[in-house]
Amino acid sequence: MLLTEDAPAPTRSADPAFRRDILAGLSCTPKATPPIWFYDQRGSELFEAITDLPEYYPTRTETGLLERHGADFAAAVGAGRAVVEFGAGSARKTPHLLRAIAPAAYVPIDISGDFLHASSAALGDAFPGLPVLPLVGDFNGPLTLPTAIAAMPRLGFFPGSTIGNMEPGEAVDLLRAMRRLLGDDAQLLIGMDRIKDRDRLIAAYDDAAGVTAAFNLNLIARINRELNGDMPMDGLAHRAVWNDDKARIEMHLEAVHPLTFHVSGERFSMVQGETIHTESSHKYGPRDSRLLLRAGGWNPVQEWSDSDGLFSLMLAEAA
Ligand code: AVJ
Repeated sequence: MLLTEDAPAPTRSADPAFRRDILAGLSCTPKATPPIWFYDQRGSELFEAITDLPEYYPTRTETGLLERHGADFAAAVGAGRAVVEFGAGSARKTPHLLRAIAPAAYVPIDISGDFLHASSAALGDAFPGLPVLPLVGDFNGPLTLPTAIAAMPRLGFFPGSTIGNMEPGEAVDLLRAMRRLLGDDAQLLIGMDRIKDRDRLIAAYDDAAGVTAAFNLNLIARINRELNGDMPMDGLAHRAVWNDDKARIEMHLEAVHPLTFHVSGERFSMVQGETIHTESSHKYGPRDSRLLLRAGGWNPVQEWSDSDGLFSLMLAEAA
């Protein structure tokens, strides 16, 4: 049962927020752009391809945990909660959770209305009788939950280690916002990628087939297309770096020779070896992840990891 309100008409002109973020990011020292802009049509397809790569363990490891521990989720979460998913539901992950816990409603939140309504329709078909109430919006901004779930206890679901894209301070702010949104008797099931062997981490973000490089460079193609840019695709090279001090993988685009280019009428230059920092993916050890949750207003209650300790699903309760 898919209950949907009228979606806003898709915009065809360049997103002003995209222009603002890219111009600001290219004007900074060091240059840095927010990872949300990776996900145009092509970028979303490339990310899907990344999740199938032999080197990229997070998606298959987390999906395995969701498949294997349904009985645990049912015992710890119980039936009758409204599941509020931050990011549109992935067809590979969300059904396992919904099947396990018999929720009273499902509220996927996503910034892309097209993607959200497609995935919501598929989930509605797979779970006849489950109210599916998609919410178009940015979960980093203010949100209002559908009135239909006002009386239901909530389970927040934030898979994929998306929290890792945030700086620790931003991650705490987001966890606190989720805590406020979901209420006093809420629970949160969140995926976090673990700190592990450096070579394994780097391989996951610099795969042999070059799919992650194409994903990173697609940002340049998008800038050139949507912001009237002339950035040279062959003048920038994909780099994945482990920043041990900050416990994060960083993706960069490095100038292989001195560059001058234009975006939206503004001129930029890069010296050889200079980079645009395009993404950070923070990794959390077991204690780190519990500390992060507590700082964000959640008490950890249970966690599930694969036998190699690559990835963890954490269940927490509103503090
Ligand atoms: C979607 C943010 C979880 O950090 O692993 C994958 C994105 N970037 N390969 C991650 C990503 C390059 C991914 N997240």
